[in-house]
Amino acid sequence: MGLLRSLAMLISMTWFSFLSLDVVAQSGSAPALDALLQDYAYRAFVRPRTGIPFEGVVPSNLTGIKIAAMRLRSGSLRTRGVNMYKEFRIPIGVIESPYVERLVLVYQNLGNWSGTYYPLPSYTYLAPVLGLLAYDASDLSAKNLPELDIRASGNPISIVFQDVMPAPDGSVPKCVWFDLHGLVNFSNVVSGNTCLTVQQGHFSIVVESIAPRPPPGFPPPPPSKGKKSNSKVWIIVGSVAGGLALLVLLSLLVLWLQKYKHRKKMQQMEKAADVGEALRMTPVGDTKAPAAMVTRTQPVLENEYVP
Ligand SMILES: *[C@@H]1O[C@H](CO)[C@@H](O)[C@H](O)[C@H]1NC(C)=O
Ligand SMILES: *[C@@H]1O[C@H](CO)[C@@H](O)[C@H](O)[C@H]1NC(C)=O
Ligand SMILES: *[C@@H]1O[C@H](CO)[C@@H](O)[C@H](O)[C@H]1NC(C)=O
Repeated sequence: MGLLRSLAMLISMTWFSFLSLDVVAQSGSAPALDALLQDYAYRAFVRPRTGIPFEGVVPSNLTGIKIAAMRLRSGSLRTRGVNMYKEFRIPIGVIESPYVERLVLVYQNLGNWSGTYYPLPSYTYLAPVLGLLAYDASDLSAKNLPELDIRASGNPISIVFQDVMPAPDGSVPKCVWFDLHGLVNFSNVVSGNTCLTVQQGHFSIVVESIAPRPPPGFPPPPPSKGKKSNSKVWIIVGSVAGGLALLVLLSLLVLWLQKYKHRKKMQQMEKAADVGEALRMTPVGDTKAPAAMVTRTQPVLENEYVP
C-alpha cells in the first residue's frame, strides 16, 4: 500500500501549495496600501515640526482609514521615546536601521477596512487594525519609500487599544501582529486592552470565531482588480497543474491495481496447481501469456505429475 500512501500525500501537498498561494495573493494588497498611506501621511507635513503628530487625509476611496505622521530625530527617539502617539507608547531604546538622522513614524488606523486588508479567517476583530511604520524623513515628498527596520532594545512598545469590543463568553482575546512580510503572530493581551511589540507592523485584538464563517458585517474583499485577477490566473494555473498531476497519479494507481490483480490471479493459479486440480485446466481455460509464465515456473509440479 506504499503507492496509495504516497498518492494521498501528493494530493494533500498539491492542495496545501494551493492554500498558501491564496494567502499570498490576498495579503498582497497590504504593502501597496502601506505605500499609498505613506504618501498621503507625508502630505500632512505642511509646516513640519518634529515631535508633533500631523493628521493626514486619505483618498476618498479609502474613507474610514485614519492616518497620521510624526517626524522625529533618531537620537531623540532612542533617548526619550514618545510618551503617547495615538494608541502607541514608545519607550526609550527604540533604534532604527539603517541609521537615519530623522525619521517619520506613520500611524494607520484601518477602521472598517481592517478585515479587508488583513483578513484573518476564523478570527473576529475586537478592535481596528493599527499600524506603526518607520520611514526616512530626509525627503518629505518621497513616495514608495522602503520602511526602516525599528526595534525596541529595552522595554517593548505598547499599544493601548481604545473601545475594544467585549469578547464573547468563554473566548480569550489575543493580540495579533502582522509583520511587514505578511507573517502573523499571536500573543497575550496585557491589562485587558494592551498589546506589546518590539517591532513595527500592524496590530489588533482578536478572538477565535465560534463558527468558521465570516462574522456579520465583515467587509467585502479589497477592490484591487489587478491583484484579484492575478490570483485568479494563479488559481487556474494551479488547478490545471493539480488536475494533471492527479490524472497521472490516478493512471499510475490503475496500472498498479491491474498489476496487483494479475499477480493475485497468478498466485491463485499456482495455489490451485499445487493442489493438483487446476493443472489439467490451465492449458485449456487460459490461453493468454500469463498461462505460459505459470507453466514456465512449474518444473517441480511436472516432476510430481510424471509418476
Ligand atoms: C484610491 O485612490 C488613490 C488616489 O486616487 C489611488 O492611487 C489608489 O490606487 C486607490 N486605491 C484603491 C485601493 O482603490
Ligand atoms: C467604511 O466606511 C466608509 C464610510 O464611513 C465607507 O465609505 C467605506 O466603503 C467602508 N469601507 C468598507 C470596506 O466597508
Ligand atoms: C511569535 O510570538 C511568540 C510569543 O509571543 C514568540 O515567542 C515568537 O518568537 C514570535 N515569533 C516571531 C517570528 O516573532
